[in-house]
Amino acid sequence: MARLDIALMGHPILARQAEPVQDPCDPAIDALVADMLETMASANGVGLAAPQVKRGLQLVLFMVPSERAADGNGVPVTVLMNPEIEPLGDEMDEAYEGCLSIPGLTGRVPRWRHIGYRGLTPDGRQIEREASGFHARVVQHECDHLWGRLYPSRMRDIGSLAFVDELRRRMEAPTDGAGDAEEV
Ligand code: NI
Repeated sequence: MARLDIALMGHPILARQAEPVQDPCDPAIDALVADMLETMASANGVGLAAPQVKRGLQLVLFMVPSERAADGNGVPVTVLMNPEIEPLGDEMDEAYEGCLSIPGLTGRVPRWRHIGYRGLTPDGRQIEREASGFHARVVQHECDHLWGRLYPSRMRDIGSLAFVDELRRRMEAPTDGAGDAEEV
């Protein structure tokens, strides 16, 4: 396993549509997933998409820590290839997000509150889930990486883009969640 270099905003691969994974059971995919897991853990992230490690493939990993889950039940690390998302209903929530490709910054991003998503796992199974809240948010954020989108391009008000350290120094940080936006 190896820790991989993370592409930062401005790297062209982050603005490109990623290619579908042709064979989810390819051993090369297993090796990439292992390296991405190590990279995500060492960066204290809760999600990572292949373009962030400069691989233009439709592959994401994410997890939901139990303290961030609406029902207290976290989601263990999930590896998803060739994912598809559909909004369930038209409700949206706005919350702070961070991104490992935009270190140190955070901004308020609207996302679908409820989604359905599906994709392939490395053992070739298809998984299909419904998600809400933070779980739905992290999946939307990661899949956006596959379509060449970074969160600032989803923000309604670019004025909320801020340095996490600066927000943490201010009183509002503990109440609006900005100080604990995980990078994904
Ligand atoms: Ni990200």
